[in-house]
Formats: sequence, C-alpha cells, structure tokens
Amino acid sequence: MSDQPGSATGKPFLRSQRWFADTGMRGFAHRQRMQQQGVRRQDVIGKPVIAIVNTWSELSPCHAHLRERAEQVKKGVLMAGGYPLELPAMSLGEVMVKPTTMLYRNFLAMEVEELLRSLPCDGAVLLGGCDKTTPGLLMGASSMDIPSIFCPAGPMLNDRYVSPSGNRTVGAGTHTRMFWDEYQAGKISAEDMQSLEARMTRAPGTCNTMGTASTMTAIVEALGMALPGSTSIPAMDSAHRRMATDCGERIVHMVLQDQRPSQVLTRGAFDNAMAVQMALGGSTNAVIHLVAMAGRAGITISLDDMDQMARKVPVLANLFPAGERLMEDFYYAGGLPALMKTIQDFLSLDEQTVSGKSVRENLTNAKVLDAQTIRALDQPVSPLAALAVLRGNLAPDGAVIKPSAADPKLLKHRGPAQVFNHPAELAAACADESRHWDPATVLVLRNAGPIGAPGMPEWGNLSIPKPLLKQGVRDMLRLSDARMSGTHYGTCVLHIAPESAVGGPLALVENGDLIEIDIDRRLLQLHVDDAELARRRAAWQAPPPNQLRGYVRLFRENVSQAPQGCDFKFLEGHTTIPEPDIF
Ligand code: FES
Repeated sequence: MSDQPGSATGKPFLRSQRWFADTGMRGFAHRQRMQQQGVRRQDVIGKPVIAIVNTWSELSPCHAHLRERAEQVKKGVLMAGGYPLELPAMSLGEVMVKPTTMLYRNFLAMEVEELLRSLPCDGAVLLGGCDKTTPGLLMGASSMDIPSIFCPAGPMLNDRYVSPSGNRTVGAGTHTRMFWDEYQAGKISAEDMQSLEARMTRAPGTCNTMGTASTMTAIVEALGMALPGSTSIPAMDSAHRRMATDCGERIVHMVLQDQRPSQVLTRGAFDNAMAVQMALGGSTNAVIHLVAMAGRAGITISLDDMDQMARKVPVLANLFPAGERLMEDFYYAGGLPALMKTIQDFLSLDEQTVSGKSVRENLTNAKVLDAQTIRALDQPVSPLAALAVLRGNLAPDGAVIKPSAADPKLLKHRGPAQVFNHPAELAAACADESRHWDPATVLVLRNAGPIGAPGMPEWGNLSIPKPLLKQGVRDMLRLSDARMSGTHYGTCVLHIAPESAVGGPLALVENGDLIEIDIDRRLLQLHVDDAELARRRAAWQAPPPNQLRGYVRLFRENVSQAPQGCDFKFLEGHTTIPEPDIF
C-alpha cells in the first residue's frame, strides 16, 4: 500500500480517509453524518473502515442467520482496530427468486462493485453462500479489487425422514426431486410429503448436499478467498460464529497489508478451484461461474481446461447427489482442507490466500478423519468423472454433463427426440397418463438459455413422464440449453451452446430425430443430414423476445453464452476502476 498525499498519520493510505479525513466542507459533512448515527469522530478517522456486505433477507432462508453473523464479524473488525459498517446487498434466495437467480448474479456483482466503489470502504467481508450470491459477491469484489474476504453462510444441518418404514438422513434439494418422483409414482403418501416439507430443511444454512452452494463456497475457499476450512462448517455450529469473528479480524490485517483479490486470484488459484470442483463431484453450475470469476480477474478458462481436469481428478467426496452423505458429515470428516490435502498432487501449493499463508501452509495439519466420506485417490466414489464436456453438431461450442450423477447405462445412448419449447409444455405432456412413452426417448427442452429464457434457469433436470415413473423408470437422456440445480441428478446434458434462441442447432431439432450421446467420445450428435439441417435453418425464426425493458433488457443485450461464463461483456477483464470524485 502506498503512502498518499494527505495521509497525516504516516500510516498506509486508506481510501475511506478521502471521505473522513478531508479537511474541507465535504469531510465536515461526511463526519457529521456519521455522528448523526452515533459514530464518533475517532471511530472512522485513521482506521480501516470495513464494509460487511450482507445478503441477508427474509426470503433467503439459507441466509437467515447472517444478521447475527454480521455482528460476529463486527466484533472481529473492532478487536483488530478497524471500524465495521454493514451494507445490505441483493439477496438471491435460490428457491424464491423467479425466474432464476442466475438472471441476477451479474446484478449482484455490479451492485457489490458499485457499493465498494461509491462508499468509504477500505476492505470488505462478503456474507453469502446461497448459490449465485457467492460468485456474484466474488465477481464484484474482484472487479473493485479492494481487500476482500468471503465469509460463507455454511451448510444447514442434516435432515431426517421419519416414516413407518424407517428413519433416514435426507438432504435438501437432492431428495426434494427424489421424493417428488416417488410421490408422483404413488410410492409416498400425501401425509409423508407434508412431514417431509416440515423436516427436510430444519435449520438455517445452505443446501447440505454437494449442490451449487456447497460447490461454489468450496471453490472460493480453494481460490484462497475464504479462510481454510471455513466453508465446511455447518451454519449452526458454534465454530461458525467464531469463524465469522476470524473473518472480521483478518480483513483488517489484509487492509493494512494491502492484500487484494488480484494477488490471490491467479491462474494457479483457478486451477486449484477446478481440481476441487472435480474431487467434490461438484455442481455443473460451477463451470459457468468459474469462467465468469476468472474473466473478472483477467484469466481465461475454457471448457476444455475443465474436461481435462475432470479426467485427472476423481470424485472423492462421498456426498449427494454423486455420493450418499451430507455436508455435516463432510465437516466431521475433516472438511475441505482434508479433501485438498488428499488431492495435493494436483494443486498449485504456493498460491497465497486470505489467511496470509500459502495453500501449502494452510494444509499442514489437515487430515481425513473419515475415509468413507472423503475417499482416498484409489477409492473414488464413482469410476465416472464429475464433468464431461461434449461436442458435436448439436453443441458446436460445447455442452456439459455430470457423468457421476447419471445412469451409466445412458452415457452411451441413441434415441428419438421429443422436443419442448417451454417447461409448461413438458409438464403437461408428463402429466398426461394416457400418453405412451418409449423410455429410450431423448427429452429436449429449448429456449431455456441465457438469452432465451432469459437467465438460463435450472430447468435442465427435465421431469420424467408420469406413466414411465409408474413403470419404475427414474432416468432418461435429457438435453437442454438450461442449467440444472447442483443438488439434482440424472443423465442431463446442459448448457448446450450456442443456445437455441440465437439459432444454435438445438433450435433445429424435430420430434423423432435421432440423437446420440457417447461420453467416452465426448460426443453429442444429431443424426440429421446437413442438407436437411440447412433447410430447417433457412426456415428458422428467432422466438420473439418476451421482456424488453429495464434490467432484463440490459441482461439480454449483453450476456455472453455459457462457455464464456454468462457475464456481461462490458464487465469482463481486469481493469483499474477509477475512484469516485469527491467534491
Ligand atoms: Fe439456498 Fe440451496 S436454496 S443453497
């Protein structure tokens, strides 16, 4: 950190002092307004002012405890000699926000960047964890590039399903779809469903499977932007409160040492994050977010980089949906540091982290405490990879699938397409009990990509038709340009690019066309000859845009395709953001 003119104390320059130490009328007004709310002059003069960016809301149940956690962060900041100020930011409660939180990830990222730019903050503690909040917070902080640390919301506690037939542990998300399918098939009663509604998510915290939330928070820890071990701590564990205080204490030191995201978010850090994603059997959503987060740091990650990493690093975390345990078990097993220690040969160990130490130093005392939950390298949870990138005439720019959460029998498959243009069409067809279905059918959903939907909702786990559910069918090959919840499972090919709304080949598929998938060859092929495809393309018309104003218009006009991270093109790359004028 450089000494700047106007630093009367000779201490490192703090940007907040442009507001609070100003000797003119503006400084008078800034201090006056802080005193208006009971803050003393000496609280903000000459001290690091720390923003606690809080994504709490009463419609984000995963973040229900974050107001209390903000108080624990404040304690740490004060004890380290800083001054904390809590700033609310858009809360992206995954289940409640429609049509999808993905539509608003970039909104949150822009908000964080502008909050930190426009206000007197020297550093930031980022409170979040529910799915898109994590990349949104990180992308904004990375662009603004002031010292920042991520304080994860933490996973919820294990849940129970108690029924006359037994008592078993269940997790949020994964079991929601599983039980719903069982209910549709007549295997679970309405009373049991009511009981599950009340029991399955019994405590604050993020989904406790290896869904998008747990994947993304772990990735942020692997990137070095969260304290070691912090993202595995259950939200309701007392260690979580102590971790929040540690975050508050640490950010003050980071400000004094001028440790910025750009020093942590290196190519090696992103390689570590990809390796961790694969070992976790993490959510396919992470593919998009990793590309976008890297893009903000000026680093390019390709789908092929991820495919190569997935071929090297096996799935070792025995967690739903690829495995059979939950985040609470993962914590008891040693958490992310234990997993990282297991895969350390694939990691770049000299990367620096917000702990002030390297990855190697952070992992010194890490060890696996339960080898069934965190497997050894030669005992993977699945012989299949966490991710495969497919290409072919149906996905020239790529598509992804999570083989470890799919039915192995469908990973080499050929079947006739049944095409839907909207999930409501699919839902009506699935509910029609008089309709005959061939289980080999390939279900296709289009108009669900970043521009088409818009926002690329998690519609990619297409429902199985009810008549097939009753016959015991639980998986089919399903294709879309949508995303899929990380808590879900099935043979679902996702993120097909280019998306159908911009004329990608998915737009040209017709009912009965043969579609082939071959995971070993990384192939996704539409068996229709080129002349016929050219005829269909000539006749194709883009669907009319369904929303043309406000933020959604901004989104549609600027969002990139899935392989590029779905960021706004004007926010990509690492540039120096100018400080606001103060007059
Ligand atoms: Fe918030 Fe799953 S709904 S993490």
